[in-house]
Amino acid sequence: MCGIVGYCGYRRTAQVLLEGLKRLEYRGYDSAGICIQSTAGALDVVKRTGKISNLQNAVQEGAEGACGIGHTRWATHGEVNESNAHPHNDAADEFSVVHNGIIENYLQLKQGLEAEGTVFRSTTDSEVIAHLVAKNYRDSLEQAVRDTLFLLKGTYGIAVISSREPGRIIGARNGSPLVIGVGDNEMFLASDVTAVLAYTRQAVYLNDGEMVSITDKEFTTLDLHDRIIQKQIELIDWELEQIERQGYKHFMEKEIHEQPESIYRAFQGRLNTETAAAHLGGLNMTLQELRQVERIRVIAAGTSYHAGMIGCTLLEQIARIPSYAELSSEVRYRNPVIEPNSLYIAVSQSGETADTLYALRELKRKGAKVLGMCNVVGSTIARESDGGVYLHSGPEIAVASTKAFTSQLSVFYLLSLMFARMKHCSMEDGLKFISALQEVYDQIRDILGRASDIRDIAKKYSHYRHMLFLGRGKTFPVALEGALKLKEISYIHAEGYSAAEIKHGPIALIDEHTPSVVLVPDDFLRDKVISNMKEVKARKGKIFAVAVEGDREVQDIADDVFFVPKAWEHIYPLLMVVPLQLFSYYCALELGCDVDRPRNLAKSVTVE
Ligand code: AGP
Repeated sequence: MCGIVGYCGYRRTAQVLLEGLKRLEYRGYDSAGICIQSTAGALDVVKRTGKISNLQNAVQEGAEGACGIGHTRWATHGEVNESNAHPHNDAADEFSVVHNGIIENYLQLKQGLEAEGTVFRSTTDSEVIAHLVAKNYRDSLEQAVRDTLFLLKGTYGIAVISSREPGRIIGARNGSPLVIGVGDNEMFLASDVTAVLAYTRQAVYLNDGEMVSITDKEFTTLDLHDRIIQKQIELIDWELEQIERQGYKHFMEKEIHEQPESIYRAFQGRLNTETAAAHLGGLNMTLQELRQVERIRVIAAGTSYHAGMIGCTLLEQIARIPSYAELSSEVRYRNPVIEPNSLYIAVSQSGETADTLYALRELKRKGAKVLGMCNVVGSTIARESDGGVYLHSGPEIAVASTKAFTSQLSVFYLLSLMFARMKHCSMEDGLKFISALQEVYDQIRDILGRASDIRDIAKKYSHYRHMLFLGRGKTFPVALEGALKLKEISYIHAEGYSAAEIKHGPIALIDEHTPSVVLVPDDFLRDKVISNMKEVKARKGKIFAVAVEGDREVQDIADDVFFVPKAWEHIYPLLMVVPLQLFSYYCALELGCDVDRPRNLAKSVTVE
């Protein structure tokens, strides 16, 4: 998705902007641009399609200025070309704007401006903002932006500079994140704090309906009625090296290998052997309120939805609370009925996914209690939830989510234990649960230590154009996740199914050209999955099975097997997803794909 960086200060502006944009690359983009304001005021815009390196090559050596803004664009309105890339200027090149989000009434605004003689240089929705700011300018840039905001319908995070006010950036937010980075004699503005972490750890998050005026010396946050808002400076504790590759070929590989530590962080300080329970600090619910929860509804998208599906099965089986996961994109528009004593959980790595955020707002509007389960601290979903749990996975840079998924599962284990211990679960069973969770780090280390076995298997499968992923019970959503991972980074067509469902249709696809990846935990559904494997083999389908160590029968049936360590049955989703992450990674590597930045995808999907 689009990214914004702004800078006022003593450093080389172009360099700060380009470096910030590079840090935002992981979000996905198709073009990028910067506008540098010279100390005399003139605005110099450079834009390029493709990688940031193209832009870097085009920026003049020594291009300096009092301040500047930069943007990575992920096309929504108008094709990918230089004119549609941001920043966008007004006709006289006195105002320059970068914009994240979508201006829904842009056509109407554009027609009005064209009728007055304005000539547009792009086919974007964003360009109207630049022309409107120019038109509305009377006494200050801040006033011009504010008056413009009242005309816009839709979502925006914007940064605006003007030759009439050198050294000042005006930012505003409605539905698209914006954070101020506070430095000494320098200030930053960004859509994502990772863009400015190299320079400062002090951040101020804007809320919807807020604006900021920035110079190198100070920032002032205001509401849309020109009233000053006092905001707190938050300290960001992510280390920069946490978001660098640390010797791994790709961020995805690094993030897969980080999982023993990221899961450890999800559990850290939350498991209590004294009480044999889990304690989660940020729920903002009393014990009594928690005991009154009669049903849980999870809303999420993509990988987070798959985690939610597994989480609901865990909550139902372990805590005996009826639970159901739903795609957030569907919740918003079906006018959901909020049942009494229901608890909603919005699951989102980024905390910015538009589908999930809008569903959360709709649910809250109808009186629902919504908790957030996010990774990015201070993200919009985290802030707009009634309470929540952070994943503490550390920054996830690769577009394909891996460590956030296992951290989400980890938090669902904690929630299941917490609720179970409030109801029927004995101290003895609680302690068994905790020791099963504490074994997970070593079990995943064991799997990761055998990554090269999966690389060898992936070499044999990466040339297939179609694959099925089959699982049952708690591993059915793992099959969905395995298929999603494979298709998003290797572009191999993959579908996840309940192994029981194949006889209802998908079995028609099975032949020697369509292999199946089958998940076989040693739970009570194992024998049924074995029967499904035999059905696949009877139709010449090749099988790569992920099974539990010692399962000789699976080894006899499957063409290739990867064994995960023996564990408590509820832990298998967490263990079995790791070989699937590695499998998709190595298939993509074999095919020479851009693993961290797959085509058409964005890390944080901030449009509906
Ligand atoms: C994961 O690999 C995907 N890129 C995608 O499905 C993602 O999980 C989805 O967009 C939801 O993102 P979120 O967790 O940040 O809300």
